[in-house]
Amino acid sequence: MPPDNLTIPSHVGIIMDGNGRWAKSRGLSRTSGHKEGLETAKRIVAHASDSGVSSLSLFAFSTENWRRAEEEVSFLMGLIKTHLRKQYDFYKERGLRVTHSGNLERLPSDVRKEILLVEKDTSSFTGMRVNLLINYGGRDEIIRAFKKYIRSGGLPEDIDEEALSTNLDYPDIAELDLLIRTGGELRISNFLLWQAAYAELFFSDTYWPDWTSENLDEAFSHYSKRQRRFGGVPT
Ligand code: IPE
Ligand code: IPE
Ligand code: MG
Repeated sequence: MPPDNLTIPSHVGIIMDGNGRWAKSRGLSRTSGHKEGLETAKRIVAHASDSGVSSLSLFAFSTENWRRAEEEVSFLMGLIKTHLRKQYDFYKERGLRVTHSGNLERLPSDVRKEILLVEKDTSSFTGMRVNLLINYGGRDEIIRAFKKYIRSGGLPEDIDEEALSTNLDYPDIAELDLLIRTGGELRISNFLLWQAAYAELFFSDTYWPDWTSENLDEAFSHYSKRQRRFGGVPT
């Protein structure tokens, strides 16, 4: 459980960055960094769930990550697939509902299959939502939302924020409250562009594999001190 007096954000998004540099600093292969990063993800999912977060969006693979070496890409795809296949008990124990944001089309069919299966198997769970962003890009999601809108007969003159956001991958978790990026970079790299419009930002220098529940508590502690104004003036 986190310390008392913290405001827990409802929807937290994490750009889990720094696996490669973590591995390099230990003389290990980048793939070992990704393996360790997966262990961190499970640790942080458990702590976020215990803390009362409603939805946790985890950036696992971006639409730009295909630019990496073939070996690294196929390792990541394999890691995602095996995790989803083997970790059903982890999700079930905590009642976690798994959803996927991103473009299913370019994913290898075996990965796509595991994603659809875990979404289905956990769909009745009522605990924290774990939204996995795999082959996800914020721009790609917005383009797909426009396509869905047009295909359903939507007219240009009717486009407004609601029309667009109801066509995003998960309209019910459209607002992001806290955006965390680990690993020291100060950018958002195409992560939840629409949803992050009014998110509070928290950047951490710690590489993702070194992240612990204390780091998440520290992010919550900063979030608790923020004054969210949404363009208004506090009365
Ligand atoms: C983040 O770690 C994980 C993915 C992008 C899949 P990186 O692999 O980007 O690690 P660095 O940034 O090279 O250290
Ligand atoms: C963002 O990290 C993507 C994920 C964490 C999955 P990157 O490492 O790919 O981002 P850049 O290239 O540093 O912007
Ligand atoms: Mg990186």
